[in-house]
Amino acid sequence: RFPEKGKVSYKAPSNIALVKYWGKLARQIPANPSISFTLDACATTTSMKFEKKGESSDTFSFDLLFEGKPKEDFKPKIQTFFERIEAYVPFLKEYHLVIETSNSFPHSSGIASSASGMAALSLCIMDIEKQMSPDMDKAFFNKKASFLARLGSGSACRSIEGDLIQWGKHENIPESSNLYGIKYPFEVHPVFKNYHDTILLVHKGQKQVSSTVGHELMHGHPFAENRFRQAHENLDALKSVFAHGDVEEFIKIVESEALTLHAMMMTSMPYFILMKPDTLEIINKIWAYRSETHVPICFTLDAGANVHVLYPESVKEKAIQFIQDELVEHCENGHYICDRIGQGARKI
Ligand code: PMV
Repeated sequence: RFPEKGKVSYKAPSNIALVKYWGKLARQIPANPSISFTLDACATTTSMKFEKKGESSDTFSFDLLFEGKPKEDFKPKIQTFFERIEAYVPFLKEYHLVIETSNSFPHSSGIASSASGMAALSLCIMDIEKQMSPDMDKAFFNKKASFLARLGSGSACRSIEGDLIQWGKHENIPESSNLYGIKYPFEVHPVFKNYHDTILLVHKGQKQVSSTVGHELMHGHPFAENRFRQAHENLDALKSVFAHGDVEEFIKIVESEALTLHAMMMTSMPYFILMKPDTLEIINKIWAYRSETHVPICFTLDAGANVHVLYPESVKEKAIQFIQDELVEHCENGHYICDRIGQGARKI
């Protein structure tokens, strides 16, 4: 039964990949498997008011408010998303929707809101579906929310649950799927249960290259096959790293993944560089600090210039001190965000 009207709200976090998703096939099928820490502080909150239209309708109708104001330029993205998921949520066209969304992180901070945004939106839609099928269990709800989110933005499928999420078929992870993210099914040592991610905002401007274009450039890329194989191998290697709490090996894999992601961009045609001089300064300072102090702090990168500094809870004070003393000077206007591994989206 269709509910006449109502309102649902969800808060969904961003995530940071440890093994990177870069390259895709049709319908947002990843070219290689990936794994990420779900974040906590960086999140999108979305509410959706829905009201049954007078008569059956063949178009989507929705209003969109971003941080309280109408946002026309986001609408085509949402329209495209709705068209992609239409077959799986046919009831959507029966409603007029008022979508209100806001981010916990500052607008144009260089932090992508597509993962958290598409996850929050998908959860709102699934909540409406659940009102029609009250027996739906939590596992199905999360799986389908992740499935829908993937069709909005690939990495968004890793933003439904916490705290370590794997996406993409991998032969040694039988539960894995190209269609949705799953909670990492193997043993994880406590050291990886409360990791921190301090995000250094090196460059807040728009990216020169969208991730859509970046994924596209992996088609016919001279190193593509090796890269995809390497992602599988790194995911395999992480199994014992997570089980044993092997932070040193974790650092090698995570930093190599970040640099490989950027190496793929530098070696595509056309080629491009998203790192800034300050990105490299930060990386070099992290390496110098680590070799002097043996404090296990490392970096990873997204498809941009910002640096995610990862470290375990046990070295939090030292890491924050180092970041403040040496790294913050490389951030635009000294801006950074203290985040940590989180437990996934929640209804509000
Ligand atoms: O979800 P997309 O299509 O914006 O791709 C994101 C890709 C990276 O953030 C660079 C890596 C990842 O796995 O999140």
